[in-house]
Amino acid sequence: MQKNKFTVTAALPYANGPLHLGHVAGVYLPADIFVRFLRMNNHDVAFICGSDENGAAITLRAKKEGITPQEIVDKYHKIIGDSFKNFDISFDIFHRTSLPLHHETSQDFFKVLHANGSFTQETSEQYYDEEFKQFLADRYITGECPKCHSAGAYGDQCEKCGSSLSPLELINPVSTLSGKTPVLKQTSHWYLPMERHETWLKEWIQKGTLNGVQQHDPKKWRNQVLGQCMSWIDGGLHSRAMTRDLDWGVKVPLPDSEGKVLYVWLDAPIGYISATKQWAQDNGKNWEDYWKGDRKLVHFIGKDNIVFHAIIFPILLKAHGDLILPDNVPAYEFLNLEGEKFSTSRNWAVWLHEYIESYPDKVDELKYVLSSIAPESKDSEFTWKEYQARVNNELADILGNFVNRALVLTQKYYEGKVPTLGSLTAEDEQVLAEMKAIPAKISQLLYDYKLREAQAEAMNLARLGNKYLAENEPWKLVKENPARVETIMNIALQITANLSIVLQPFLPRTAKKIGEFLNFESNSWENAGKSDLLATGHATNKPEILFTKIEDTMIEAELEKLKNANSTSSAVAFPAQKPAASFDDFTKMDIRLGTILEAGKVEKADKLLKLLVDTGIDKRTIVSGIAAHYKPEEVVGKTVAVLLNLEPRKIRGVESQGMILMAENDKGELSFMVPEKGFGAGFEIR
Ligand code: 2FM
Ligand code: ZN
Repeated sequence: MQKNKFTVTAALPYANGPLHLGHVAGVYLPADIFVRFLRMNNHDVAFICGSDENGAAITLRAKKEGITPQEIVDKYHKIIGDSFKNFDISFDIFHRTSLPLHHETSQDFFKVLHANGSFTQETSEQYYDEEFKQFLADRYITGECPKCHSAGAYGDQCEKCGSSLSPLELINPVSTLSGKTPVLKQTSHWYLPMERHETWLKEWIQKGTLNGVQQHDPKKWRNQVLGQCMSWIDGGLHSRAMTRDLDWGVKVPLPDSEGKVLYVWLDAPIGYISATKQWAQDNGKNWEDYWKGDRKLVHFIGKDNIVFHAIIFPILLKAHGDLILPDNVPAYEFLNLEGEKFSTSRNWAVWLHEYIESYPDKVDELKYVLSSIAPESKDSEFTWKEYQARVNNELADILGNFVNRALVLTQKYYEGKVPTLGSLTAEDEQVLAEMKAIPAKISQLLYDYKLREAQAEAMNLARLGNKYLAENEPWKLVKENPARVETIMNIALQITANLSIVLQPFLPRTAKKIGEFLNFESNSWENAGKSDLLATGHATNKPEILFTKIEDTMIEAELEKLKNANSTSSAVAFPAQKPAASFDDFTKMDIRLGTILEAGKVEKADKLLKLLVDTGIDKRTIVSGIAAHYKPEEVVGKTVAVLLNLEPRKIRGVESQGMILMAENDKGELSFMVPEKGFGAGFEIR
C-alpha cells in the first residue's frame, strides 16, 4: 500500500449549541474512524477541527440567552470540546475561530485574494433597522414566506416549507431587533464572482482533472455530492457576497470597511488552515506541509455544507494560488430521531453530552449503533429500540459472547496460556483464510468511504469466530479429543487478537479491552489477518464482560425523556419582545369573552371558518383562520377571547366584525384562550 499524506477535516460545529447524535453520526464519528484507520496504516495524517464562532448564528443565540457573543462561544466551545474528548474523537486539534491566529489567517487570506483581483466590490440595497442603526443579517429579518405564505420565515430560509429565500423576497419583512419594518439602504460589499470559475470547476468535479492533470477520482465521490455540485453549476454560478455588515466576526482588513466582517462561510473553512497552523506550531511542524504539495485533503461534512466545501472553498483555495484542493468531500445525509427530524428548537434530540453523562461506560455501544445506521447514501433513523437490539443482539450476543468464550475456556483448560496449534482440518483452513481476507476488505471499504459496510465487515470476524466455536463445540470435545481442542482454541484466540486490531478504528475502547484480556497489543493494520499473533504458551488474562445488555427500563426512560422534552419545548425559538406599547395603546383594545354560537366553512377558503359569536352585547359574525385546526362542530359552544373593536374588514366576501384570539405554538398549532373559571360571554379581559 502506497503511503499517502492526508489532511482530514471535520466540519467546524457552530459554537451556538451542544452536539446531538445527528452531528456525530454524519460527520465526527466517520471522520474519526477514517483517521484512526489511516494512522494504523502509518499514513502521515493531520485531523483538524475547531468551533465555528463567528456569524449571525452566534449573535442570535447570544440575544436569545441574554449573554454576550463571547460568552456564548466560550460556553459552547467548552461543552462541544468536552463531548468530543469524552466520546474519544481523536482530533489532533480542536481550535476556535474567535482566536487571534484565526482572525489573522483569514484576514491574510482575504488580502491575498483581494490583491490578486479575485473579488469585485458591489453596492446593493439591503434591509436596515433604523432604530438599532444596523444592517440586518438574513436571520435578523422575518416575514411571510413568498412560497408557502406562512408567517415567521427568515431572510435566508422558510423553516415551514424549506425554501431558501433572500431577505428581499419576504412579504411584510420585520426586523427581529426592533420589531419594526426595516428600510432598504445602500451598502457596499466584496463579492466572489463564482461565474468566472465555472469551466475549471466543471472539469475538476466531473473528471477530477485540472488542466488535464488528474487530481482526484470522481468515482470515489458520493453521488449526492456530484449531483448537488452539478446542479449548482448547471443552474449558473453567480456572484456571492463574501462580507457582511455585522459587529461580530473577522473584520474586513481594508480601509473604509468599518462595521464589516468576513462572511462566516468565508472564514469558517479557513478555520481548518488556522487550526493546522496552531497545531503545527505546538508540535514543531510546518503547516504548509499540510496544505500544499502532494497531500490528500478530505472534508467530512453534512449534506447542507456541500456547496461550501465542494464549490466555494475550492474556488477560494485555487484563487489563493498555492493551496491544494480537496481529494474528496464525503458528505452525509441526515439522521432522524424516532420518526422525526432532529430539532434543537423543539429539543427533539439526543444530546451527546447528556448521553455521555448518563452512560459514560457505553461510548462504544453508541459508536457501534451510529456507524451501523450512518446516513451514508440516504437519510436514516435512530431509534432507542434499534439501539437496544443492536447492542444486545450484535455487540453482546456475537462479539461479547465470542471473546468471552475464547478467553474463559482458555482460562479453564490451559490456565490462560495459548495452546498449541496442531494439524488443521479443511474447516480450520477455511476459517483462517476468511480471517485473512477480512482486513483487506475493510481496508478497501474505508478507502472508498464506505464506513458502514467496513464496520459490518469487522463484525463479520466476530461472527466467524462465534460460528466456529458454536460448530466445533470444544466444551463437548475436550475430554475425548484434547489435542483437537487445543487447535480450536488457538484459532479462536488468533481471531480474538485480530479483533483487537480490526475493531480499533470503530470501537477503540472495546479493541483496547480485548487487547488487555489477551495481554496483546498491536496498532498496526499490517498485522491484521495474521494467524500467529499469539505464540503458544503466551499468557492471557482473565476477561470481563465486554457489553452488558441494555434493559427495557433504560429505553423506556429515554423515550419518556424525549416525550417530555418535546412537550415542554424548553429550547423553543420564541420571537423577540415587540417594542413597548403605552397603557393607553392597550386600553384602546376591547377584548372580551365571547361564546361561539354557530360555525361553518367559508366557500373556497380552506383555512377559514365563519363564526356567529355572542359577545354579551350583541351577536356578530367573525371570520377566523382556524379551519385547519378545528372542525366547525368542535368550536360551537366554546367561550373564548375575542377582540371586538378591530376595524371590520371583508374576508372572502364576508364582513368580519372582530377577531378570535388564539395562542400559537412553535409547530403552528392553535389553541383557544378559554377562561379558567367558566366565565360566560361579555366579561372583559384586561
Ligand atoms: O453547518 C455548520 O455547522 C457550519 N458551522 C460548518 C462549518 S464547516 C467549515 F467550513 F468550517
Ligand atoms: Zn415557506
